[in-house]
Amino acid sequence: MMKLVFLGCGARGRTYSKFAAEMSDRYEIVAACDKVLGRAQKVAAFVPNGNVTIYKTEQELFAAGKIADVMVIATQDADHFAHAKAAIRLGYDILLEKPAAQTLEECEELHAMAVEHGVRIGLCFVLRYTPFYRAVKQCIDSGKLGRIISIHASEGVEAYHQAHSYVRGHWRQSASASPMILAKSSHDCDLLCWFADAGVKSLSSYGSLEIFRPEMAPAGAPARCTDGCPAAKDCMYDAHRYLGDKRSWLRMVLDDSETADDERIMKFLKESPWGRCVYRCDNDVVDHQVIAAEMENKISVTFTMTAFNCGRTLEIYGTKGSLKGGSPWKDAGAPELFFRDHSTGQMEEIPFNLADEGIYSGHGGGDAGIVDSLDKMLGVNGSLAPGVDGIEGHRFAFRAEASRLQNNR
Ligand SMILES: NC(=O)c1ccc[n+]([C@@H]2O[C@H](COP(=O)([O-])OP(=O)(O)OC[C@H]3O[C@@H](n4cnc5c(N)ncnc54)[C@H](O)[C@@H]3O)[C@@H](O)[C@H]2O)c1
Repeated sequence: MMKLVFLGCGARGRTYSKFAAEMSDRYEIVAACDKVLGRAQKVAAFVPNGNVTIYKTEQELFAAGKIADVMVIATQDADHFAHAKAAIRLGYDILLEKPAAQTLEECEELHAMAVEHGVRIGLCFVLRYTPFYRAVKQCIDSGKLGRIISIHASEGVEAYHQAHSYVRGHWRQSASASPMILAKSSHDCDLLCWFADAGVKSLSSYGSLEIFRPEMAPAGAPARCTDGCPAAKDCMYDAHRYLGDKRSWLRMVLDDSETADDERIMKFLKESPWGRCVYRCDNDVVDHQVIAAEMENKISVTFTMTAFNCGRTLEIYGTKGSLKGGSPWKDAGAPELFFRDHSTGQMEEIPFNLADEGIYSGHGGGDAGIVDSLDKMLGVNGSLAPGVDGIEGHRFAFRAEASRLQNNR
């Protein structure tokens, strides 16, 4: 039985704790801490007959000493470094939300400190735990593709998602959150290193914020959609869509969204960042970025992040065959993952276990998958070694951002 404590009981903390509570034969949630009391109480409520201690502040939590085997840290980006350091000092193994920290230097410091204290840190790269990406990894490891020569991946954030999270929302500014390549595409950077089985040797990156800027606003657009915008009818980012087809996005930013009526939501849109015109926000993260890289084992890698597509694609070119897939293929009616044999020219669909959509739907099954794997990673004889597992992906992402900034000068 692995004892867990949750620091940060927002959207992510609640997602992981809910799955952990459902796996009560292997995990015991002993404590929850959030500066918003009701959120910690929600985590406690996932364990109806449990004995979950609630801490209102991180100070109280850390002062209690080591009260569990693993601390799940799901606070916001800017807090990860300090919270992880405090947990390392107490000797906790950690499941840490990404990004591990806001600079590469801080990530390296965490890594070194974890090694020194014999502490294992798993990052929440949930995509590694999805049936889709596990099938890709299995294909590579089985030798079916031969020697891997190149990898190309893309991530289409999707325009409204970009607006919600990276224009109006929590991750709109590099300084207060993280650069886009970390905030959104650190998963992809991790996957690229995981598939290549190597760190990056050299790279170059380009990208900028092109669309969500004041110069792009339609004529007469006010600061808020709720102020009566003349362009509302033709604007796909109109905040009034939160009252209709985009309502589910509010779950992540409005605590009572599931019970809120339209009047409550209108008040929220009038007052919160999510009612603002997408062209008149205080955002600075990019809406598109590309990376070209060579890995330490000479595999060449390219990656595109864009607000203006939907879903991830992946192409892996090996000496025996190539593997292609991603949700856009499926959306277009093609198999989600397929293989071309270079010798025969034959195409083959690669099946993978979609599991039960009910429990496995979040992040394509990765949210449940990472909790399911937690004891295998961080239990006695777990697979992780002391240090930050997945730091190669962070090195890749931070170097990409440094290169982009340099190239934009
Ligand atoms: N792995 C993924 O796929 C994925 C997806 C989305 C977000 N994230 C990351 O997960 C993290 C959390 O995101 P979220 O959407 O859950 O955010 P959130 O704002 O919903 O949750 C953060 C919670 O931490 C609490 N908190 C902040 N400071 C605290 C403190 N000092 N002490 C106690 N509680 C504190 C807040 O009150 C909030 O409830 C972010 O770093 C984000 O970048 C990861």
